[in-house]
Amino acid sequence: MKAAITGIEAYAPEYILTNQELETMVDTTDEWITTRTGIKERHILKGKGLGTSDMAVKAVEGLLKKTNTSPDEVDLLICATVTPDMLFPATANIICDKANIKNAFSYDLNAACSGFTYALITASKFIESGTYKKIIVVGADKMSSIVDYTDRQTCIIFGDAAGAVLLEPSSNGYGIIDSILRSDGFGKVHLHQKAGGSVKPSSHETVDNKEHFVFQEGQAVFKFAVTHMADVSVEIMEKNGLKSEDIAYLVPHQANMRIIDATARRMGLEREKVMINIQRYGNTTNGTIPMCLYEWEDKLKAGDNIILAAFGGGFTWGAIYLKWAYNGKK
Ligand code: UT7
Repeated sequence: MKAAITGIEAYAPEYILTNQELETMVDTTDEWITTRTGIKERHILKGKGLGTSDMAVKAVEGLLKKTNTSPDEVDLLICATVTPDMLFPATANIICDKANIKNAFSYDLNAACSGFTYALITASKFIESGTYKKIIVVGADKMSSIVDYTDRQTCIIFGDAAGAVLLEPSSNGYGIIDSILRSDGFGKVHLHQKAGGSVKPSSHETVDNKEHFVFQEGQAVFKFAVTHMADVSVEIMEKNGLKSEDIAYLVPHQANMRIIDATARRMGLEREKVMINIQRYGNTTNGTIPMCLYEWEDKLKAGDNIILAAFGGGFTWGAIYLKWAYNGKK
């Protein structure tokens, strides 16, 4: 028995923050952002009192509808996020409450930008073991809530979005075939949020020092991202005897166009076989991979060999090999 994605839905908030608007906020240019990252615009969740769960619920409700699933049927919901509504309760609990999912247990999973891949594999094990039949995996982040819009090194990168997939048992060979997931906490020094955790609880001082925002040493992270994401993607191909011509699509985490291109090159894939929407959404952390799958859904066919690849804070990284389970848009 395999675990297959049987539906996908995503949501990006209405407001679009363009490179031109960023030019009026910090010392940057559209040209710099475009050539260094590939990003042109990103969606931002505006509105007081709205958080990650509000975007996630839109994706989850759409997913339930398009897959004809009653909220009562859902066994488990896992939410991958680094921007939970609150430190506790888990955003997954809040999503279930808002989406009227009453018979499930739910929890959050934090693996930074690799969270969606970690959550998908975690969920797949509950399906493969025969324990559960319907699991929703959400990847959602309101990155604008932890981005310093006076810091040109980070504010140009991130955006807000949510995606959700339904995972169900499949006995026809389609579904998740293999995965390689890794982490190395040494990466903490290069990418983290300094305050608000148990080591450095929030205080006037931490707010004054802007320690509740994303801290990233871009170049160092780039160096690891570009090698690790490509290495693990090639490793999963070799492990499963896949050649570049066997692969329908690479679905890479959307952190930087240069990292995506380097990974595709190492895998021997043309641009047409790579899902890229970074130009319109930026880096939405846990939202990137489901946002891509959602936008490409109508092009996908049952049996397509797909590789998901991610790299993020931690460091965390990994690749998943799956056979897509249905034709076109649901
Ligand atoms: O998703 C989680 C994992 N994260 C990643 O994978 C991100 C990996 N890192 C990156 O994508 C890139 O390192 C960045 C996009 C963050 C930065 O690009 P870079 O090519 O590594 O630039 P840099 O940090 O080396 O900066 C080059 C120059 C510097 O100026 P000097 O020192 O050469 O005079 C920066 O101060 O560009 C300057 N700079 C900017 N200039 C205009 C930095 N940010 C900006 C900006 N606009 N927004």
